[in-house]
Amino acid sequence: MNHDMLEIRDLSLSIPVSGEHVLAVSGVSLALKSGKVLALVGESGCGKSLTAQSLLRLGEFQGVDKETGDILLGGQSLFDISSEELRKIRGGVISMIFQEPMTALNPVFTIGSQILEVIHLHTDLNKKAAHQRALTLLADVGLQDGETLMKQYPDSLSGGMRQRILIAMAMAGEPEFIIADEPTTALDVSVQKRIIALLRGLQREKGMGMLLVTHDFGLVAEMADEVAVMYAGEIVEQASVMDIFDNPSHPYTQALMNCRPETARDTPRTYSDSRQCAKPR
Ligand SMILES: Nc1ncnc2c1ncn2[C@@H]1O[C@H](COP(=O)(O)OP(=O)(O)O)[C@@H](O)[C@H]1O
Ligand SMILES: [Mg+2]
Repeated sequence: MNHDMLEIRDLSLSIPVSGEHVLAVSGVSLALKSGKVLALVGESGCGKSLTAQSLLRLGEFQGVDKETGDILLGGQSLFDISSEELRKIRGGVISMIFQEPMTALNPVFTIGSQILEVIHLHTDLNKKAAHQRALTLLADVGLQDGETLMKQYPDSLSGGMRQRILIAMAMAGEPEFIIADEPTTALDVSVQKRIIALLRGLQREKGMGMLLVTHDFGLVAEMADEVAVMYAGEIVEQASVMDIFDNPSHPYTQALMNCRPETARDTPRTYSDSRQCAKPR
């Protein structure tokens, strides 16, 4: 079944700090549409990851102790479905690519066993077909010689290769929505560009809806259709990419955009590495 929309409605999340509830995300509403990229931008600590992870109902692992609002997949609330249904949705309908490609892979298992595990979770392919599927997924993310790669351990691979493998794993269940939380922050600039091109290609080819969490306006210009700007736990501005670049209305958005290098400001559809300049505080 295909879902046209994944929505966050009026979401508030608290985390415990010194015995008190602290509101980390406050009244956030966002809609992810099939085939479109929504960028969620904002400085470090403003609540982007908590918001993104709420889409997979991962709050409890993050230490969230109070959650109000709703998450709707094709109109159905993910707040009142069984944990079994939720398991199927995770990776099968909504996949997440995490910030840290180093920690998301288990160092004691081979790449092959980790990919096969995800394939078996989401398909009922037999052993041989699953192996074939793993090779196809690796080729799809630009990794050659999958047979050799599958026998290797994460330690022996570069950060870029590890992130490609995590993307392959995220694709294994043919998700309709992909949540990419700063997917290139931990990588070298040249590798970042290739990973972004890969993600953009996959998103378009498969028509997935995507939430791209970033603090990089160059990346937003490159990839997104819509932008939501987050500041201190709230969405302060939301608009199409063109409108945001033409006319950023919130002072915080203006500050974020002013941090971009000139080239990116003049030609908003080219990639630039805006992470080099200081983040506004
Ligand atoms: N597990 C946690 N325990 C305590 N505080 C947390 C936890 N996770 C996040 N926070 C706090 O919640 C706020 C939002 O965090 P996060 O969503 O990770 O921000 P971002 O992804 O925008 O950098 C931050 O102030 C962070 O310190
Ligand atoms: Mg984060």
